[in-house]
Amino acid sequence: MGLLEIVTYPDNFLRQPTKPVENIDEELHQFIDKMAITMYEAPGVGLAAIQVGLDKSLIVYDGMPEQETQCLKVLINPKIIAAEGTVISEKEGCLSVPDFRADVKRAAAVIVEGFDRNGKPVRIERDDFLAVVLQHEIDHLNGTLFIDRISSLKREMYKRRIRKQLKK
Ligand code: CO
Repeated sequence: MGLLEIVTYPDNFLRQPTKPVENIDEELHQFIDKMAITMYEAPGVGLAAIQVGLDKSLIVYDGMPEQETQCLKVLINPKIIAAEGTVISEKEGCLSVPDFRADVKRAAAVIVEGFDRNGKPVRIERDDFLAVVLQHEIDHLNGTLFIDRISSLKREMYKRRIRKQLKK
């Protein structure tokens, strides 16, 4: 079915800063399509290219996560240009951090600029759940995982659980 393999914690591949996309070509479009299939199949509401093996500044997410219908959004070289307020993102999770959820403090509203799949500049202003999704995915492009933003106690609990699993 052409699903991409999701890289999971503690793989160091997830920790590198990504490079800007320089060419939007057929190859990239095919990769984006595979990312979308992989995200919806998982299922997840967002996915960064680095999570599926490409160290480029590229994310996909669903633009209407509360609806049944798929509303695929693609953002190339996205940047948060403004962030305001705080909100607790309850039970945040990540396809690269399996079987773990935690509350994360996030900005309540963001303005993001980037390019769509055809290279057209886009500007997105959100102050809802998608504001959190955008921050989470753009974090991935800088090598940051949501577990970096939780209390050290909770993070250590998760790390210990993973270490145990890896020993088995
Ligand atoms: Co994630």
